[in-house]
Amino acid sequence: MISNKKILPRTQAADPTMADDANQPEPPIISLKDVVKSFDGKRVIDGLTLDIHRGETMVVMGGSGSGKSTTLRLMIGSIPADSGSIQILGTNICGACEDDLNKMRLKIGVLFQSGALFNSMTLAENVALPLIEHTDIDREIIDIQVKIKLELVGLREHADKYPAEISGGMKKRAGLARALALDPQVLFYDEPSAGLDPVTSAEIDRLIIDLSKKLGVTSIVITHEMDSAFAIADRMAMLDKGEMLIVEERAWFERVRDTTPAEAAGLSDTERLIRQFLRGDAEGPITDRKTATNYAEDLLGMPMRRVTTPSVMSTRDL
Ligand SMILES: Nc1ncnc2c1ncn2[C@@H]1O[C@H](COP(=O)(O)OP(=O)(O)OP(=O)(O)O)[C@@H](O)[C@H]1O
Ligand SMILES: [Mg+2]
Repeated sequence: MISNKKILPRTQAADPTMADDANQPEPPIISLKDVVKSFDGKRVIDGLTLDIHRGETMVVMGGSGSGKSTTLRLMIGSIPADSGSIQILGTNICGACEDDLNKMRLKIGVLFQSGALFNSMTLAENVALPLIEHTDIDREIIDIQVKIKLELVGLREHADKYPAEISGGMKKRAGLARALALDPQVLFYDEPSAGLDPVTSAEIDRLIIDLSKKLGVTSIVITHEMDSAFAIADRMAMLDKGEMLIVEERAWFERVRDTTPAEAAGLSDTERLIRQFLRGDAEGPITDRKTATNYAEDLLGMPMRRVTTPSVMSTRDL
């Protein structure tokens, strides 16, 4: 039986900030510090701090609306932060000019949830587009590059098909080939396996792992599919209501997930919340929190608060 003592201390893995060769600390490839973002006066990212190191696969998890996609959009500079700092590949994107943002964007690839392909173009044309738009490379070389990228995702023989002629999983792979077009140092994935059957989803996971190994890219993967998360992650980060609850090695999350109910009683509130999320349990701190929200306040659109003794009461009593 695993004792709580074994779960609670964080894992002491080799310091990933130490470069192997010169034993010099390498700065994180992405670094967010105290980042805040509000929409319409509602704070959806609340003092978020996160470092991502070169070559690692970081999985960002969290419930629906916890701020995962917003975090991704902040990291790639598609929306500005209200405060805090965001460094990516040496560029401080808070306050950076459009030129610097565009230079940074050429070094990253993004796989959006839909694949975001142009329907009027073949897969080959979709993959060629970033190369045509952003480089002076000769057309023959671009065609070779396109074949290499489509081969990497297993779609070379479908190069001349249009998006409407291929399945959802193939669209994801084609979107990935396009994200790879400019040989990015960092790849962002927003829900890469959403809407896919389990086998296709496992194929995408395998692809993410292969690309990370073959190309050495740093990957940031947003997902709430736990099988995928545990298959691909080096480290995992858990967001809750725009706050970073914890960032840890995958093994730490595995230990929390695998605690027995008896062991779970000795965990901290945060760890029990994470445990429920990882296991997909119907009961636990997350569901308790939802039911403890005052229903009448919620209906009236007032700020949510917790009540200590949830009960059925008339709205006239409020
Ligand atoms: N452009 C926007 N304008 C207003 N509110 C927004 C905007 N983008 C996001 N939000 C709000 O910010 C919060 C976080 O949204 P976000 O899309 O980051 O969540 P998420 O964790 O990615 O959720 P999901 O798992 O459902 O994709 C939500 O309450 C959402 O409604
Ligand atoms: Mg999202």
